[in-house]
Amino acid sequence: MAIRKVLKMGEPSLLEKSKEWEDFDTPDLSSLLQDMWDTMAAENGAGLAAPQIGVNRRVVVFGYQTNPRYPDAPAVPETVLINPVIDMLDEEIESDWEGCLSVPGMRGLVPRFRHIRYRGVDQNGNVVDKQASDFHARVVQHEFDHLNGVLYPQRIENLQFFGFCDALENNACFRKQPCDD
Ligand code: NI
Repeated sequence: MAIRKVLKMGEPSLLEKSKEWEDFDTPDLSSLLQDMWDTMAAENGAGLAAPQIGVNRRVVVFGYQTNPRYPDAPAVPETVLINPVIDMLDEEIESDWEGCLSVPGMRGLVPRFRHIRYRGVDQNGNVVDKQASDFHARVVQHEFDHLNGVLYPQRIENLQFFGFCDALENNACFRKQPCDD
């Protein structure tokens, strides 16, 4: 287990489409997942995608009981999701402030589907099939985007609503969030 370096926006490999993970219940997968959980915890992340630590495979982890970077967000179950597929359940879109460990110190207003179904498998190859709304749905869509080489700034519709979080604290449209990254 180890805390790995999180790659930052600008790193070309973050823009690549990742490949599916094929072998389950293996030491390679356990050690990747342990590193991802350790790295995410060290950085207070809400989620982490394997490409963020330089592994371009379709593996994400997310979830927490409480999160100091998003104090208003309800708990999200701790989940390993491999080779995910996402379907929107309706067309409702919600915009909210989002950050990313690969874009430290910044937040942007990002539209996401409010209600989704996500499917994939866990570390043992067992099926994961859940529905999620609001922040939970946002986190899953954000991590899924990483697997396709998309970072949240690419989804911001109006770049007026993108900035450094310490500066955004002076901005009336920004719901206050602590800026520890
Ligand atoms: Ni991210």
